[in-house]
Amino acid sequence: MRMYDIIEKKRDGYPLTDEEIRFFIQGYTEGSIPDYQASALCMAIYFQGMNDQEISVLTDAMASSGDQVDLSKYGHLSVDKHSTGGVGDKTSLVVLPLVASLGVKVAKMTGPGLGHTGGTVDKLLSIPGYRIQLSPEDFSVQVSRIGIAVVGQSRNLAPADKKLYALRDVTATVSSIPLITSSIMSKKLASGAKNIVLDVKVGSGAFMKSPEDAHLLAEKMVHIGQMCGRNVTAVLTNMNVPLGNNIGNALEVKEAVGVLRGEVFGELRDVCEELASNLICMAFEISPEKAASMVRDAIDDGSAYRKMLEWISAQGGDIRTLEDLSLLPKAKFEYDICSTHNGYITKMDAERVGITSVILGAGREVKDAPIDYGSGIILYKKAGDPVSIGEKLCTLYTDREDKIPEAEKMFRSALTIGFTKPVPQPLIYEIIRSKKS
Ligand code: URA
Repeated sequence: MRMYDIIEKKRDGYPLTDEEIRFFIQGYTEGSIPDYQASALCMAIYFQGMNDQEISVLTDAMASSGDQVDLSKYGHLSVDKHSTGGVGDKTSLVVLPLVASLGVKVAKMTGPGLGHTGGTVDKLLSIPGYRIQLSPEDFSVQVSRIGIAVVGQSRNLAPADKKLYALRDVTATVSSIPLITSSIMSKKLASGAKNIVLDVKVGSGAFMKSPEDAHLLAEKMVHIGQMCGRNVTAVLTNMNVPLGNNIGNALEVKEAVGVLRGEVFGELRDVCEELASNLICMAFEISPEKAASMVRDAIDDGSAYRKMLEWISAQGGDIRTLEDLSLLPKAKFEYDICSTHNGYITKMDAERVGITSVILGAGREVKDAPIDYGSGIILYKKAGDPVSIGEKLCTLYTDREDKIPEAEKMFRSALTIGFTKPVPQPLIYEIIRSKKS
């Protein structure tokens, strides 16, 4: 088999065979196929697309290119959650202990944040003492014992995707549905869970800007996951504005704890309940209504919050900082931004708000850059809210006082204030479930 022929075949619009796809992934991962041929094939896929059989084989080949976590001993009870990334997205901190408190098994590997969206690893590391690395044995024992362990991704999961994604990033071939689908789903398959909920963010702060594009991607990921033997549900959620009010690591932990304690209501709790209900619905094969009521009860009776304390404590985290949130890391400087106009916030660009938090030190623009756990933003007003001159819009938190003017400029550029109250946008656009086979 020759890579040249595979590129030519896809360039001319023909489907590749299973063997050709596996030859490509194996050769590229090993290094026998060079970057220039891999990028030519990605570009051919970008223009010519792939059918479902090709995508499922590509996904499976990438998932099999490295370590694969075996959760088969938990049968149909293992669950995983993936978010395509958004600003203020702390849903994992709520959803994972919430579902674990209902008896499913969460064995989660997660990554640090890059760019304007935060990562779960950084949020967890803002809890003093939290151990983000566990040995594979300790990880497995903890999942069996308390139903949940969340670690940073250290294992060699889907190395083919890692290499290919870096290549796509510099060859303008990221935004191709077959390539995104196989990239995301290969990592989910390698992580081993039987039931997967995908939080597909839609809007200005997200990777998918329109509900139509998000629908196409979500439908494909659900279908390919099912072809590869997993139950998958995609929930399309709004990311035109940040989720919830707090952005930044320790600030997001505070808000997540508020939801689990039954003290924070609104959009954040609603999205978390939806994601959690869909996992419970798949794992226990019960109706969405029954699952939703179990999820609500687990928050209301305190079991979800108790599970969070048990989990954080098992991983070395100091739970006094959760019981008394004022003990979490705090930024040195606080700065209020007030409205200079009367009217309504007609737009709050989530991406720019996310960039503001990066300027303040809550996120990183380049890999391995240091971050300040106490930095970030608390929003008091969001899109649709009325504002008047002098009213507080948000507080900025930072250790980098010199960055405040730049952060204020970026935050103000995220807002549009007008005279007409904007039409409310949906929080959840759509839910796409695997079809029963
Ligand atoms: N996220 C991924 O993991 N892969 C993609 O291709 C795009 C977003």
